[in-house]
Amino acid sequence: MSLLATFKGKGPSGFGYGSTAEDVTSGLDLSGRTILLTGCNSGIGKETLRVLAKRGAHVIAAARTVEKAQSACDEVGGETTPVACELSEPASVQACAAQVIESGLPLGAIICNAGIMALPTLNQKHGYELQFFTNHIGHFILVTSLLDSLADQGRVVMVSSDAHNGAPREGIQFDNLTGEREYGAWANYGQSKLANVLFANGLAKRLEGTGKTANSLHPGVIHTNLSRSMNPIARGAIAIAGPLVLKSIGEGAATQCYLAVHPSVEGVAGKYFSDSNVGRSSRHGRDEEMAAKLWDVSEQIVAEVTA
Ligand SMILES: NC(=O)c1ccc[n+]([C@@H]2O[C@H](COP(=O)([O-])OP(=O)(O)OC[C@H]3O[C@@H](n4cnc5c(N)ncnc54)[C@H](OP(=O)(O)O)[C@@H]3O)[C@@H](O)[C@H]2O)c1
Repeated sequence: MSLLATFKGKGPSGFGYGSTAEDVTSGLDLSGRTILLTGCNSGIGKETLRVLAKRGAHVIAAARTVEKAQSACDEVGGETTPVACELSEPASVQACAAQVIESGLPLGAIICNAGIMALPTLNQKHGYELQFFTNHIGHFILVTSLLDSLADQGRVVMVSSDAHNGAPREGIQFDNLTGEREYGAWANYGQSKLANVLFANGLAKRLEGTGKTANSLHPGVIHTNLSRSMNPIARGAIAIAGPLVLKSIGEGAATQCYLAVHPSVEGVAGKYFSDSNVGRSSRHGRDEEMAAKLWDVSEQIVAEVTA
């Protein structure tokens, strides 16, 4: 348990900052349930894979390469299927979706966990800023390709971040998705994480009345490989202070596991969660017009890059 967890209480859900993925899934038998997870080979994704498989779920575990996914699956045991899904390559994402559809298995949840953070300089793929393309467009392709594979009460879980509050002042910069007009490591990460919130909300709206849901979340701040692009001094400080002020990996993986499988979340949609409780996203995160525009623009981008 992290030190901070000692001082933080629990919320209305009965869970809180210090609850771990094991805590929020305690007593649940997930056998017979299939869950697709991206970013299964590292950080909180790997812990999510371990805990969901331990509770009996069949986890379709996606990583950039099938070798990375296989090695994560080998480490955790349980019922797992490794798949390749390189989110910055639409063909890879589509191949992953096709493999899932081919399996014929209904998905109890899709956990969009993979992500990159704070790239110091502008990187692009297919002409778009890489964090936006990887964190949002890759997951947009994956999820929209798999909507028919979602089980009746299937849940889409978008792993966002409180860093979405640091998105540009106007929110999504629709006129600068290439990043060429201006670029900031944290502002563009924030924009991509705002896109995760808006996508979950837009999807929740489209799924109304179906029993299927979509939500987004902030997992907490956890020392993982995510900080690899930060400067060495900041990384060193995180490594030293981490155990005192950051969440443990188990605590960090809790909210996404809670949203994916806990019975009390059934039917809850379009919310932003933190510490396994309903939280509050930014003003832009609650902007329905921006969510609708992002959906349209994302569809146009997907049509362009998959033509
Ligand atoms: N750690 C935190 O404090 C924190 C805070 C707020 C939100 N989050 C969010 O939590 C999620 C998980 O992060 P983490 O902390 O566990 O980081 P991590 O240890 O770096 O794991 C990130 C995962 O995403 C994968 N990934 C990155 N780029 C990809 C791509 N192009 N295609 C497919 N997979 C890709 C990575 O694969 P490789 O190992 O092959 O690169 C890795 O499996 C992210 O969405 C992040 O934004 C984390």
